[in-house]
Amino acid sequence: MAMPKQVKIVEVGPRDGLQNEKSPVSTEVKLAFIDQLADAGLSVIEATAFVSPKWVPQMADHTEVMRGLKRRPGVRYPVLVPNMQGYEAARAAGADEIAVFAAASEAFSQKNINCSIAESLARFAPVVEAARRDGVAVRGYVSCVLGCPYQGEVPLADVVRVAKALYDMGCYEVSLGDTIGVGTPEKARQMIAAVSAAVPVAQLGAHFHDTWGQALANIYAVLEMGVATIDSSAAGLGGCPYAKGASGNVATEDVVYMLDGLGIQTGVDLEKLAAAGRFINGQLGKALASKAATALAAKAV
Ligand code: HMG
Ligand code: MG
Repeated sequence: MAMPKQVKIVEVGPRDGLQNEKSPVSTEVKLAFIDQLADAGLSVIEATAFVSPKWVPQMADHTEVMRGLKRRPGVRYPVLVPNMQGYEAARAAGADEIAVFAAASEAFSQKNINCSIAESLARFAPVVEAARRDGVAVRGYVSCVLGCPYQGEVPLADVVRVAKALYDMGCYEVSLGDTIGVGTPEKARQMIAAVSAAVPVAQLGAHFHDTWGQALANIYAVLEMGVATIDSSAAGLGGCPYAKGASGNVATEDVVYMLDGLGIQTGVDLEKLAAAGRFINGQLGKALASKAATALAAKAV
């Protein structure tokens, strides 16, 4: 299949990135980060998560983040929602797009959201129903599509089953997450081949973490399969609090540099994006994790 001419990047740094940070990040810094990402041309920015603050303290200011957003025309700010309680809180805070998150691994589902896969799908059904009534778009996530930190191998049939369940429920897009970053290109390709037999490839997103340095290679492989939605995190922030050892999401800077080089449109300005990444790295006291951002900072050509 031909490579897409255009790719939609779903920037997950403010949520998937920051959820894992040990030291608190102020709401003000989060809002400044989100606004810089929007200024760089990112059109979908996952802003926060309406999950339990006991489970993920870093997202406890979800309401303040949503209320403080300087919304820009053409930019969407989806939020993670695990249940009706989260949905109602998200709506009250002004969210108009959400994402529900399931796992392909039974063990990960228990650790991450304290219920089985079947229970999670049953919880999401009324959320998606309410969202449809309210005109709120719902994205679905499947975690652990290429391996699980607790269960190890995850059968492809389970990935397909959960992705299809989310799609059939009414999710407009299903993001397939290699939560712990263990995938390699051929496995990523096989996973997309299997899932796209059940969910149209145009409705699939790919979400890679870079634990083993495979994320860009995996993205290249799935682009060749026709996937045109890529999740990434500015500055390569990230990890999942319930997936020990998982390193950051693939860095948006690196994805944009690769896509620019392939002549694939993203609408993102790499210089501005790198500045947003430097800003958040500075706030977190972290060294640059993105290779592209490091090269830019060194004025490499
Ligand atoms: P639970 O303890 O089973 O919930 O947690 P519960 O329904 O039994 O309620 C217990 C308490 O939680 C109650 O409060 C509820 O009010 C409260 P208490 O009476 O004890 O004071 N509660 C909530 N509070 C705020 N917001 C809510 C909410 N729901 C209940 N929405 C729950 C179940 C799902 C809430 C919990 O397990 C949770 O919040 N988990 C979130 C974990 C998480 O955010 N993980 C990271 C995101 S997933 C990810 O990173 C992967 C992804 O990026 C893709 C990839 O990388 O592959 C998406
Ligand atoms: Mg993730």
